[in-house]
Amino acid sequence: MKIVSFESRLALKIEKLIEKQGGQALVAPSMKEIPLADHAEVFEFFEKIAAGEFDFLILFTGVATRTFLEILQTKISKEKILQGLAKTKIVVRGPKPTTVCNIWGIPIAYTAPQPNTWQEIINILQADNLLQNKTVGVLEYGNRNFPFIRELETMGAKVLPLKVYQWGFPDDLTPLNKAIDEMIAEKVDLILFTSANQADNFLEIARSRHLELPLRRALAKTAIFSIGPFCSERLRELQIFADYEVSPNKMEDLVEAAFKHGPMLVKKKNQRAKHAWAKVEDCFKISQAKELLQNSHLLKACRLEKTDTIPIWLMRQAGRYMAEYQLQRKGTSFLEFCKNPQICMDATITAVERLGVDAAIIFSDILLILEPMGLKLDFKETGPLIENPIRDLAAIEKLSPPMIEESLGFVLEAIRLTRKNLHPRIPLIGFCGAPFTLASYMIEGKGSKNFIPTKMIMHSNPETWHLLMEKLVAALSDYLSAQVTAGCQVLQIFDSWVGCLSPQDFEKFVLPHTQKLIAQLPKNIPVIYFGVNTQALLPYFTKLGCQVIGLDWHANLNQLSPGYEKICIQGNLDPVLLFSKPKDFLPEVERILKSAGNRPGFIFNLGHGILPETPVDHVLALVDYVHEWKGT
Ligand code: CP3
Repeated sequence: MKIVSFESRLALKIEKLIEKQGGQALVAPSMKEIPLADHAEVFEFFEKIAAGEFDFLILFTGVATRTFLEILQTKISKEKILQGLAKTKIVVRGPKPTTVCNIWGIPIAYTAPQPNTWQEIINILQADNLLQNKTVGVLEYGNRNFPFIRELETMGAKVLPLKVYQWGFPDDLTPLNKAIDEMIAEKVDLILFTSANQADNFLEIARSRHLELPLRRALAKTAIFSIGPFCSERLRELQIFADYEVSPNKMEDLVEAAFKHGPMLVKKKNQRAKHAWAKVEDCFKISQAKELLQNSHLLKACRLEKTDTIPIWLMRQAGRYMAEYQLQRKGTSFLEFCKNPQICMDATITAVERLGVDAAIIFSDILLILEPMGLKLDFKETGPLIENPIRDLAAIEKLSPPMIEESLGFVLEAIRLTRKNLHPRIPLIGFCGAPFTLASYMIEGKGSKNFIPTKMIMHSNPETWHLLMEKLVAALSDYLSAQVTAGCQVLQIFDSWVGCLSPQDFEKFVLPHTQKLIAQLPKNIPVIYFGVNTQALLPYFTKLGCQVIGLDWHANLNQLSPGYEKICIQGNLDPVLLFSKPKDFLPEVERILKSAGNRPGFIFNLGHGILPETPVDHVLALVDYVHEWKGT
């Protein structure tokens, strides 16, 4: 085994330990200790606090808080530090800085509630407009969180951030760079982290060489060993997940564990990641690839055939919760991203590689088709926004039928590229918004709670409504058919907001149009129809003509209406449950599997899209659990 270690002080010792066991060691010291007293700006910052110049002090992480206090203690008594800190209101982000404050006896004024992201800090401070003309200090560790600071400033605060460091980079970066290169070349089997800060430095160097994304890809295939809970926790914050943690945290134990459990862990991680990208040797003959695809678990489930393991994919599986996606998005607007086939392909396949799921969904958005129909579309922090919503017959008559190849060619190109580079075991899902959900966006101009203008048009001007739906059906059937020609094996129709309708309105104003759309699609391609809050509508869905129905978490899979025995279903874990620890949400996953896993035709999914801030390791635990489930 080739093993990388980032140990600095005991570099020689760990090298010997690895070689004694017959391993090939690549020891790359990643840190240099900075004497605690060399921190003038930390003392200046504290003097301002003690002089009462800060109204608030935000403690972002436990590490930053502890390091800050340790640095101060080299010159100032604990009593003086506490007196100084009493001059400001302390705001903490979560349990870690809270623990440090409790140990020190520092009173906390505000604690951000779960899930303890910076957004929760904003929410509590925003609630009472607390920041107008106030001075706010922010203690940070690692990267500066610019969006957070910008939000504080828009709330009227003067923000003074302070980065606290206990460690710097080693003078000679050659071994560290070599380790990064070897990892990216997939020549490393295993990594040992022997302290919490090593990963920060190692990522920082990769980042400076624009290699963070390929490095993260390599990490997904490498066994990662951590020396103890504190080290694992820091790794987790960086979205690097330890596959094995030793305790008690001794270096000898770490190396021994690496040799004992490493090979099995490398194999497991490779299995998860290897069926994403197609390498030339995987793409044998076309007919063999076609057979692999047709026998994929997802397509089998759509055809109501039994599968060895339950297929799983996740709506919005490529998204903001994932470090890889954030790196791909950096510096690009969401619309630019969607219009670049190369990065859409990359985002699509990277999600499959990272999660080990059974399907890819092309990276795109349901609203893109509105642009060539004549609407002005933008994506703001708060969600999508249409500048010129349509509200009357004249506006609907003016809508142009989109020329798909000309106006949405970038989506088709992304599909062609993805199909070429995606492993033939993995079906590619194409998608569109359903006529109702798109009509509601066109009329409302944004997301909505009550859908007042939409329902008004429906009831006051039914001909206008039906004309809009007909125009959408024509556009969408062309669009989905083109996606199939470009390389999709499955289609999903997202009717996210259909649950706002009464069954009567659904039957009269929506069902016939959606039926017509599905009837016009290529016959041999399974169609998944999905909506949220649809309990009252479920009896109608079996009349849609689709092969799969996607259910949200309100549906009880044991008590579906007649007709559902003969149809494949997809769902339905509440995406919010993924914020709990796996031991707390996996029983619910098991319950879903017990109620639906034995029926012919079941695809595991969430009941709606995965949410930003969802912990990635929890998602991995979900996918592994579903794959390991062997039925009752
Ligand atoms: O599933 C996937 O991985 C494929 C990508 C995908 C996106 N949007 C990317 C996206 C899919 C399938 C969609 C569908 C979509 N888009 C729906 C239906 C599914 C659902 O969640 O109900 C809807 C209603 C939209 C409209 C839309 N697009 C909204 C409301 C938003 C903003 C809020 C949000 O959830 O982020 C978007 C933007 C969007 N679409 C993002 C992504 C990854 C976030 C953009 C970013 O900031 O990076």
